[in-house]
Amino acid sequence: MNFLLSILLLLTISANAEVKYPSSESCNECHENIYREHQSSMHPKSSLFKDEFHATMKDIVNKNEYGCAVCHMPATKNMRAMMSGKEQPDSTKYRQTDGVSCFFCHQIKKIYDSPAHKINYSNYSGDKKPTVFGNLKKAYESNEHYSESNEIYKTSEVCMGCHAHKQNYIGFEVCNVEKGYDKQTDCIGCHMPRTSGTIEKKDKGMRESYVSHEFLGVHSQKMIKKAVKLELSYKNSQLKLTINNKMGHAIITHPMRLKYAKTIITRDSKIIWSNFKEDPANDKEATFVIIFKDIDGKATLPNKALGYKLNRNLRANSSKVITYKVPKLQKGDIVKTTWVSYLINPVLAKMAGITAKDIIKQSIGIQEMLTIK
Ligand code: HEC
Ligand code: HEC
Ligand code: HEC
Ligand code: HEC
Ligand code: HEC
Repeated sequence: MNFLLSILLLLTISANAEVKYPSSESCNECHENIYREHQSSMHPKSSLFKDEFHATMKDIVNKNEYGCAVCHMPATKNMRAMMSGKEQPDSTKYRQTDGVSCFFCHQIKKIYDSPAHKINYSNYSGDKKPTVFGNLKKAYESNEHYSESNEIYKTSEVCMGCHAHKQNYIGFEVCNVEKGYDKQTDCIGCHMPRTSGTIEKKDKGMRESYVSHEFLGVHSQKMIKKAVKLELSYKNSQLKLTINNKMGHAIITHPMRLKYAKTIITRDSKIIWSNFKEDPANDKEATFVIIFKDIDGKATLPNKALGYKLNRNLRANSSKVITYKVPKLQKGDIVKTTWVSYLINPVLAKMAGITAKDIIKQSIGIQEMLTIK
């Protein structure tokens, strides 16, 4: 009888051992500042439920299979079934709608290399009190989780599990951030600046600042202004424009973006010269863009890419000088150059049938002016 009882007991214990994977919302109880920022960032919006641009592209690539899930829905429980199309995304599952979740990011133990993309090695094995990794010197104890420091959260290597490189299904590499990355590249320093406030609610006052989790990037007007530095000079009908890439990566990381410098000269409020009229591609030097070609050499979206039709980029922390031959300028003429950024190149937006205003809109970065004396 006792024996039967203990078996029964064992069974109930193992049934209860199915521990809930921590949702991002569960962190809010203690890390309210970080949670608020995280919610406003692109990471929790990464899945096809919350990012229309991504969802549209996913359907173009494959209506049934969701191979993108490894990076865009990394916390899902049924990764294999999702990637192979055996199971479909389910908006009632928080492990799917959470996107790049707090817990997913904080239990990445190591990063492995693979030609298609890097792989995040998960530390989680269903523990009741899981371990989160970070970079704090001596984290205080918490009832919710153990804390452990881990080198990759300091060197920014933790970002590379998803941000390094990616091949399409044909095996062609459609993006590579890694070529410009070494352990000195401070992704965290630029994208997670120190912010004043508490890390953890109950420890109010124990630490005065924490690292921001807004992860601002090309969706932020403020960050776009920090992308490049522009310099102008004029001598003997020659206008010189210097474009300095201030970022820790190439100007184009995601191959569907479009970024360029538009330069105009005005005399008595009339435009007398510009580096291009309508299409920025007419000034290839000042335009940063990637256009892929398919098997027939025709312009195509990343999924059908086999090579480049056009590849204009500028490496991390480097600069280029463009010299324009312009009309002879006179006193009072004004030269103005403006940095312009698009989430999606309008040419590709048309190809993909994307029309949503907030995705196709243009964003303005820094401007530089020169008045002829
Ligand atoms: C190896 C990881 C990885 C895989 C796999 C992956 N992506 Fe991404 N994706 C990213 C990262 C990282 C970004 C952010 C890059 C940036 O902004 O430069 C991103 C951004 C995007 C964006 C831009 C979203 C926006 O709102 O601006 C689109 C669209 C996109 N991915 C589509 C896809 C599709 C479709 C697939 C699957 C066929 C896919 N991705 C697979 C890592 C990945
Ligand atoms: C019951 C409160 C509580 C909850 C809930 C909680 N934490 Fe924490 N967490 C703490 C405390 C306390 C610390 C230590 C803070 C300090 O040292 O200043 C901490 C520290 C951390 C650290 C830093 C670890 C290090 O070594 O650098 C990370 C990362 C972290 N928590 C992630 C999470 C995530 C992700 C969640 C949600 C899944 C979560 N926490 C939920 C209380 C909590
Ligand atoms: C588990 C995968 C994953 C990890 C790890 C990860 N990211 Fe991301 N990140 C993404 C995806 C996917 C997106 C694109 C979300 C979207 O637009 O749909 C993204 C978006 C971003 C953006 C916003 C870009 C924009 O379009 O404005 C920044 C900035 C960023 N990540 C920086 C980082 C940094 C820094 C780290 C390391 C601390 C990191 N990420 C770690 C997957 C990841
Ligand atoms: C010196 C500062 C700096 C460093 C270092 C840096 N970034 Fe950025 N990054 C920026 C700025 C500024 C932008 C926004 C401007 C833009 O995207 O044109 C940006 C944009 C991005 C974007 C969105 C780009 C796009 O066009 O889709 C991603 C993703 C990103 N960074 C990830 C990373 C990762 C991963 C690392 C580390 C390998 C890193 N960043 C290192 C400054 C930096
Ligand atoms: C894209 C990956 C990513 C996501 C998503 C993310 N974090 Fe972090 N977090 C980091 C990294 C990297 C650090 C360490 C930065 C450093 O100090 O070098 C960090 C630091 C922390 C710390 C320590 C604070 C400090 O000042 O060092 C806490 C606590 C934390 N995260 C909690 C959270 C919570 C809670 C969420 C969700 C609301 C979250 N994180 C989402 C990457 C992430």
